[in-house]
Amino acid sequence: MSGCCLSTMGASMTDAQIDSCVVDMIGRMTLAEKIGQLNQLSGYGYAPDMIGSIRDGAVGSILNETDPEVVNKLQREAVENTRLGIPLIFARDVIHGFRTIFPIPLGQAASWNRDMVEEGARVAADEASSVGIRWTFSPMLDIARDARWGRMAEGFGEDTYLTSELGVAMVKGYQSDDLSAPNTMAACAKHFAGYGAAESGRDYNTTWIPEIQLRETYLPPFKAASDAGAATFMCSFNDICGVPSSGNRHLLQEILRDEWGFDGLMVSDWGSIQQMIPHGYSADLSQAAAQAADAGVDVDMESYAYISHLNDLVTAGKVSEARVDSLVANVLRLKYRLGLFDNPYVDMATASRFYTAGNLDAARRAVEESAILLKNAGALPIDKSKVKKIAVIGPMADAPYDQAGTWSFDLEKSHSVTPLAALEAKYGKKNIIYVPGLTFSRQCTTDGFAKAVEAAQKADLVLYFAGEEAVLSGEAHCRTDLTLPGAQSDLLKELHATGTPVVMVIQAGRPLALRDDVDNADAIVYCFHGGTMTGPGLTNLLAGEVNFSGRCPVSFPRMSGQVPIYYNRKNTGRPAQGMTLIDEIPLEAGQTSTGCTSYYLDAGDGPLFPFGYGLSYTTFAYTDPVISATEITPDENLKVICTVTNTGAVEGAEVAQLYIRDHVGKLIRPVRELRGFEKFNLKPGESRQVTFTLTPDDLAFFTSPTTREVEPGEFSVWISSDSNSGNPATFNIVAATPDVASR
Ligand code: GLC
Repeated sequence: MSGCCLSTMGASMTDAQIDSCVVDMIGRMTLAEKIGQLNQLSGYGYAPDMIGSIRDGAVGSILNETDPEVVNKLQREAVENTRLGIPLIFARDVIHGFRTIFPIPLGQAASWNRDMVEEGARVAADEASSVGIRWTFSPMLDIARDARWGRMAEGFGEDTYLTSELGVAMVKGYQSDDLSAPNTMAACAKHFAGYGAAESGRDYNTTWIPEIQLRETYLPPFKAASDAGAATFMCSFNDICGVPSSGNRHLLQEILRDEWGFDGLMVSDWGSIQQMIPHGYSADLSQAAAQAADAGVDVDMESYAYISHLNDLVTAGKVSEARVDSLVANVLRLKYRLGLFDNPYVDMATASRFYTAGNLDAARRAVEESAILLKNAGALPIDKSKVKKIAVIGPMADAPYDQAGTWSFDLEKSHSVTPLAALEAKYGKKNIIYVPGLTFSRQCTTDGFAKAVEAAQKADLVLYFAGEEAVLSGEAHCRTDLTLPGAQSDLLKELHATGTPVVMVIQAGRPLALRDDVDNADAIVYCFHGGTMTGPGLTNLLAGEVNFSGRCPVSFPRMSGQVPIYYNRKNTGRPAQGMTLIDEIPLEAGQTSTGCTSYYLDAGDGPLFPFGYGLSYTTFAYTDPVISATEITPDENLKVICTVTNTGAVEGAEVAQLYIRDHVGKLIRPVRELRGFEKFNLKPGESRQVTFTLTPDDLAFFTSPTTREVEPGEFSVWISSDSNSGNPATFNIVAATPDVASR
């Protein structure tokens, strides 16, 4: 290697230095070498074909190689056996932990804790980078309002603000404040964009998202990630209004780069360039390559489109070499930012750093912070003076693989601590009667019920661990029936019938429709697949040693047919009222005899548990919000204050949530919109003044694809414990007039 840019400048390089090195490098490269940098392959060991590709300069990054020895050997091929010695980047889907698995992102969202999410990402980066992974395909920032979509598990739920805040936290955790440090990873904001709006919740399905809604609902988390310095983005599989993201220049170039100023790297999704052919957007792979290059996809993940066709496209003048140079520049810039030119190898002396006590402690705390107490009729916390025998039942009580949830490629299930193991450790094996009743979540046979019922009858308390196997959520794993899979609800009924109090603990990758279960459990705990330390985390909560503080990051439907369901909905011209439900309708009732408002005859209106909801072992009281003014101009801030008091007998954490409503607009506005949250601990009797500041940016909305404005009119503002409670304060935004403006 030679030249100033290939020396030991990497770690402390400024952007200006990096850019000059990028220009210098591109000036040395042949077209073939440039195209090679745009090609990303999935690793399969130190294999001859892969070695050949690297030596030919035909690959710029490799995903899914996690053996540090192999990483170094492949890297040595690139650095020492190619003409320019450009290092490879090694990437992986480290979505919620590498070896120490944290709760799935939907679970982390339930923590409403920015610091916890950042800490988890930091742990993931330290573990993954210790085997050579310096690029993760995370955070997933897709807003999801339809729990049929299996990938709801991978994101932060239904709300744009919560997703923005936690996405930024994850970016910071992965990248820290010096991306060239060897224990960091480049983040990847994905899937850009609108992927969660897949029609009917079926993965990869088409989306129809008007640009105003795209900008209001789906883009802000990506903008926040870009502003936070996310090093890379990934374009999504779906089309938006007929244009697949992999060929969408308006999205990838005009919005992301021209409007937002993003200068990082855009990678395709797996094969997504090639998939523009079945989409019906490209006639063949050559056209797909041209469309993707023109749109601004820098790296082709596993379509072989660029490596197969870009050379001919440039030669034929269909793609300019300048365009190729701009794509290559984004790749090289990332490699310099990661410090790979100076430090391309894994330090084998410190490689494979996993499962430290600190990492496991962080993973356990993440479970404790993200589990939600949905119902508690008194069965929790476990009262050791009354509960001597505990029946532990259900397919998820001892499921070391499934408790980790989707996208846990690097899980070692031998390190999982299951609820059964943790409960036996805490209460003593002799006090635990373990009878699964069902051996996996989809099981439909009732053969195991009798023994489970017998165990329940002998016990003072039943802990019923139900839910979804990991495979039932995640990519391409969508379900139309959102009830508990298999015969789990039937088993719950039989356990309930014994008269022994039943605590149902659900581990799942989505909010399930629990209308038919909720009355058969004395308490319900929801833990979105908690990862390696699910057992200890849940056990500490059930025992009352830690108090619940999780809050719903999504709305829980009563019935499957309600989805998509979300709190920040429009009011409609006939909001639900005077509902006559299906069992109440008399025979031969007249067509207009029911309420004639917006609700379902069989499900009524609204969720079973609302966005932002979660119980605690204590209670909290809120004063009505006090606002700094009842009138402001469109360019003024508004302070909103309330006092939260712990009115119960034990310490607990509360999540105070700030919501607004713009009552009348050029376009109708949602009935509530989250604009802030704060999580804090209160001792019994302790009060805390919570203050939020609403800025014009918080009150503005898109009135057209290119206009975002604050409109005069009446607003309500809440500080409340969920999206369905609290008393609002009202204020008006008044058009700035000379006397008002001079205030
Ligand atoms: C998958 C996913 C994407 C992931 C990529 C690499 O198909 O859509 O989220 O990062 O391929 O594994």
